[in-house]
Amino acid sequence: MTRFSATGISASYGRTPILHDVDVPDLQDDDVLGLLGPNASGKSTLMRCLTGEKSHNGSITLDGCHRGDMDQAVWHQRVATMPQTPPSPSALMPTELMWSTARALDLDFSDRELADRIEDIFTRLGLKDFALSPLHILSGGKRQLVGLALALMRDPDVLLLDEPTSALDLHWRMVVLDLVRERLAKRGGLVIAALHDLDLAARYCDKIVLLEAGKIVAAGTPVEVLTPENLAQVYQVETKVSRDDHGRPLVQVIRPIREMG
Ligand SMILES: Nc1ncnc2c1ncn2[C@@H]1O[C@H](COP(=O)(O)OP(=O)(O)OP(=O)(O)O)[C@@H](O)[C@H]1O
Ligand SMILES: [Mg+2]
Repeated sequence: MTRFSATGISASYGRTPILHDVDVPDLQDDDVLGLLGPNASGKSTLMRCLTGEKSHNGSITLDGCHRGDMDQAVWHQRVATMPQTPPSPSALMPTELMWSTARALDLDFSDRELADRIEDIFTRLGLKDFALSPLHILSGGKRQLVGLALALMRDPDVLLLDEPTSALDLHWRMVVLDLVRERLAKRGGLVIAALHDLDLAARYCDKIVLLEAGKIVAAGTPVEVLTPENLAQVYQVETKVSRDDHGRPLVQVIRPIREMG
């Protein structure tokens, strides 16, 4: 059983405060938390704090143990992230990138297990035909899928995904999030995903946190958080929110709200 908590998270870049006392809802096995908020609201910064990559104040625990008290190698085995920026378009091939990353991270799998794992992930993400193509000839969406493949290869208990589907077409967005859900059902663990797509958030997240200027404006279930009032405040858009056949919110964006004066 995996349990993850992060409370009172504050962080700055230089003297500029970015995150202000952010409490992430307590998470456990099977939970998918969506991190929503406008550009520059602090989603990626929060992700970097949660992995320990960025210095911050506050408390982060995994299974009740504080991050600072844990063996850092174990922490990095159990908590892994897919950053917002996909792998750069180099002459490296996806297969080489996977193997060199696995070696650099000293992943605890045999070569056979790793080869099977890479094969399986590439198949699921539609990357098999591109495995031996240099990254610089892949499309932006395919490179984003390679970024996801790198994170999945690590098989962490806590998987942080920073806008995992932003470059993907409709089909692959759903394939990716179905795969993420299926993986949780099979092996446990939890996911925190920064998303801009409200429909995907409503469909795949159990809980949502809405950030604005580094503060939490609302946290709860998609129905509780995705309200016209919250969306108007945070995104300055007028919306109509109805429910789909499963009772999940369906957000229709009507127009941007113009500042008067
Ligand atoms: N390395 C950095 N140095 C200085 N300021 C930074 C740095 N990284 C981010 N910031 C600033 O921190 C704020 C939050 O940025 P962050 O990337 O966390 O936002 P975000 O919510 O992920 O936005 P987006 O939706 O555009 O990805 C922004 O004002 C940004 O300019
Ligand atoms: Mg970001």
